[in-house]
Amino acid sequence: VAQGENAIHPSASRVTQADRARQAGHRSGVYWLTGLSGSGKSTLARGAEAQLFAQGLNVSVLDGDTLRAGLCKDLGFSEESRTENVRRAAEVARILSDAGQVVLVALISPLRSDRALAQQIIGSDFNEVFVDAALSVCEQRDPKGLYAAARAGKISGFTGIDAPYEAPESPALRLETADNGADAGVKKLTDFIKGNVALA
Ligand code: PPS
Repeated sequence: VAQGENAIHPSASRVTQADRARQAGHRSGVYWLTGLSGSGKSTLARGAEAQLFAQGLNVSVLDGDTLRAGLCKDLGFSEESRTENVRRAAEVARILSDAGQVVLVALISPLRSDRALAQQIIGSDFNEVFVDAALSVCEQRDPKGLYAAARAGKISGFTGIDAPYEAPESPALRLETADNGADAGVKKLTDFIKGNVALA
């Protein structure tokens, strides 16, 4: 009897990506928002989700805090856990994108190597979006009080304080959130995605 990988025989879909795109009226794809805690990833992802949905697109969001409440419940914030968190999110994003969805992923995903892994899992549907705000700005916003807790030594391994954040080198899109209102960022992201998924 075949063991391990030899025992796995994935079935092939008879529905092509082109079939799905034709029926939906748009292509699918993954928009991977990376940035510091408090940079605005969830706000931008949820804003773009609402806009795209209102315009009739099939869209979903995979958000760090949501995944960590369920699929990634068992994971913490060590480097290994974050890598596994990114890997699971990328696998789910790929499934959703293959099913025809526009997928917005909002994860700190602090390491370039982890985002490269996500890109490898997702393939050419992967688009990196850098949600760019300086640490000082995120720390000032501190919507969850986590920066204060990290500075006080109550949380260790907090991204930007005592754990690394590696900014993307050549993101497909960069959204600066320090001096721009959320609406402007949402519009930029929505327009970028619409341009990308439009059928020729
Ligand atoms: S990662 O690095 O991609 O696995 O992180 P992610 O799944 O996006 O989860 C980030 C949210 O978890 C909270 N949190 C922390 N963030 C960073 N470092 C540490 N140690 C940490 N502990 C808890 C924090 O609320 C992050 O939410 P966002 O939305 O990014 O502010």
